Amino acid sequence: MTADSQDDDFVFVSLSKISPGRELPSSIFLKINGKYLKYKNEGDILDSDKFNFFMSKNVKGIYIDNSESGKFNTWVGEKKEEVIQEMVDEVGEENRDIVEKRENIAETVFETFSDEHLSTETVELLQEQVEEFIQIVSKKKEATQVLAKITKLSQSVAEHSVNTAQIALYLGMVCGHGHPNVLENIYLGALFHDYAKAKIPANVLENPNNAMYSQAIQDHPKKGVDALKKIGGLQDPVLTIVLQHHEQHNGQGFPKGLKDKEIYELTKIVTIANIVDGVLCEEKNRSEETYEKAIKILEYDRGKQFDPELIPRCTDALRLAFAGYERERES
Ligand SMILES: [Fe+2]
Ligand SMILES: [Fe+2]
Repeated sequence: MTADSQDDDFVFVSLSKISPGRELPSSIFLKINGKYLKYKNEGDILDSDKFNFFMSKNVKGIYIDNSESGKFNTWVGEKKEEVIQEMVDEVGEENRDIVEKRENIAETVFETFSDEHLSTETVELLQEQVEEFIQIVSKKKEATQVLAKITKLSQSVAEHSVNTAQIALYLGMVCGHGHPNVLENIYLGALFHDYAKAKIPANVLENPNNAMYSQAIQDHPKKGVDALKKIGGLQDPVLTIVLQHHEQHNGQGFPKGLKDKEIYELTKIVTIANIVDGVLCEEKNRSEETYEKAIKILEYDRGKQFDPELIPRCTDALRLAFAGYERERES
């Protein structure tokens, strides 16, 4: 049998569609050096450890015999329905639509993350998912309440917060975060990161050379957390992002001088988004140079301000997104 004819006999199934720990409805195969090798039999279980091992090795999916694909897809569909139903039971039938969207977002993110190289198509798909997710999460009481307060205090901080949250969500997905709760924490952490900065009086904020300015900047992460705690209802990861958003990979940030793994992984994504939007905000009429400047800063500060492991993937993703903005601007 030639490799080609064997390819016709098997169908690829993305790992994102498979829930570990359930009995498989048919045998599954791995493609190794162009050959399909049986990995598990019908009725066997792909346990979580194996599943996580596949993910860590960038295995994108498994293969099934073509003739079994109907049966397998039914099994996949049933599980997805079960997961959705469990969530609907928790949050109410009126939220079914949102629950379904969140499931689809998680699936897309997983699938695009398993692509080693991002493409224009993947990026566009992720950006659509970002928009959808924002529509869902921005309606949350905490989000509207705090954003309204920020807007009242400072229009420019409010704009920066909204932009940073959008970029952070995109980069979060690009870095493989697909779980709705994780995405929500990234979004809210980024949206609220400068809450206390919005409270700094304009006469202090506009004078970077005076001592009050340095102190106010130094204090805003902690003060932001204190104020958000009073509002209540926010999860710890959101507060951690706010507290740490000026920490740097090399330990030279503030308020605590944390470094590398001491910094929460979701903070690292928000930190990148914060700097990118900071650069973009400097220019009213953005051009190719503005976008390139943002990327250059990330590359220059790789391993200094930013986690070196995150930068290549994030800069690839931003380059593709910026190229899309450029096309829109020119058309
Ligand atoms: Fe800040
Ligand atoms: Fe900021």
